[in-house]
Amino acid sequence: MNWTVHHRGGRFRVVVTKTLPGARWLEVLGAAGCEVSVSDSRRPLTAAEVREELGARCDGAIGQLTEPWAEELFEALKAAGGRAYSNYAVGYDNVKVAEATKRGIAVGNTPGVLTETTAEMAVALLFAAARRVPESERYLRAGKFTGWLPDLFLGKRLWGGVLGLVGAGRIGAAFARMVAPGHRMDVIYHDLHRNAELEDFIAASSRLGGPGARPISCRRASSVEEVLREADVVSLHVLLDPSTRHLLDASRLALMKPDAILVNTSRGPVIDEAALVEHLRKNPDFRAGLDVFEREPALAPGLAELENAVIVPHIASATRWTREGMATLAAANVAGVLNGYPVAREVNVEEFLAGPLPRKAPSIVNARELSLPVA
Ligand code: DGY
Repeated sequence: MNWTVHHRGGRFRVVVTKTLPGARWLEVLGAAGCEVSVSDSRRPLTAAEVREELGARCDGAIGQLTEPWAEELFEALKAAGGRAYSNYAVGYDNVKVAEATKRGIAVGNTPGVLTETTAEMAVALLFAAARRVPESERYLRAGKFTGWLPDLFLGKRLWGGVLGLVGAGRIGAAFARMVAPGHRMDVIYHDLHRNAELEDFIAASSRLGGPGARPISCRRASSVEEVLREADVVSLHVLLDPSTRHLLDASRLALMKPDAILVNTSRGPVIDEAALVEHLRKNPDFRAGLDVFEREPALAPGLAELENAVIVPHIASATRWTREGMATLAAANVAGVLNGYPVAREVNVEEFLAGPLPRKAPSIVNARELSLPVA
């Protein structure tokens, strides 16, 4: 593994643990006076490897969801003079924010640029699972297609069904907006907060249904169990914390319709993956579309062999626009903190992606705890 140094001689030193897409993020850091040390490794770095590169002098770092940003790394960053860290992700369950806060280190993430992109992958997994796309493609490529048949790869019709969301924040709501109006699906969601905007959107879409289209509704459920029982499709959009680890275990999976479709673009450990493998085995009409896994990059034994599971390698946010945008936001987080800029009250992604960079840090999750100024 090599580290490449850009903008040598900068006033600040920033370590970036992967080569990020696009060019703007490096320009942002360069313009902010940062010398940038970038790893070319394609595998997850160990804490020891990151610590070694932080060295004796490092003002900020951009790290990955595959790295354990906890006591050891924040202690090393602090000892090197560090004040800013940004995850190259919107989710930050790999980061022990309290350990950073304790040491006066700001922690950034990259919200806003992933919303529609991740929702689009949830849609892709849903349709791939419902209409058995990967399974039938494998059959075709294997030369097994001998002619049209009345019962070849019968799938599940989504039109007029019930779309369930566990978590109706930015990404969950975007997914429902993409699918429910076009497929005339009722929405049932469980979330700590009511999403009035989504409810209003579905009500307005119901009125715009066109001749003969069935009206659609959107209802907040009082429990996850209610969503699981009623929905034909359940898409998971919760963050990972102790309350959501194994949220879908064997007993909750058993509540779902035998031909339901479960989509997960959130975090792998939200599902008890061994229980899901068992459930998929016992219920061949049940389908899962998974972007994330409990022990990435490993898969639960048996999962890869199941035809009723559609699996992709944690790529829900992998469009060029999004990944370049994430890089820019992560760089702007670090550059903003090092230059003493205030933190944006709300992330307006567009203002960071082109033109002169606003004198703000886009998203610092412990801004309040560190009493950072907000603009
Ligand atoms: C995130 O940002 O949290 C995704 O899982 C990776 O893009």
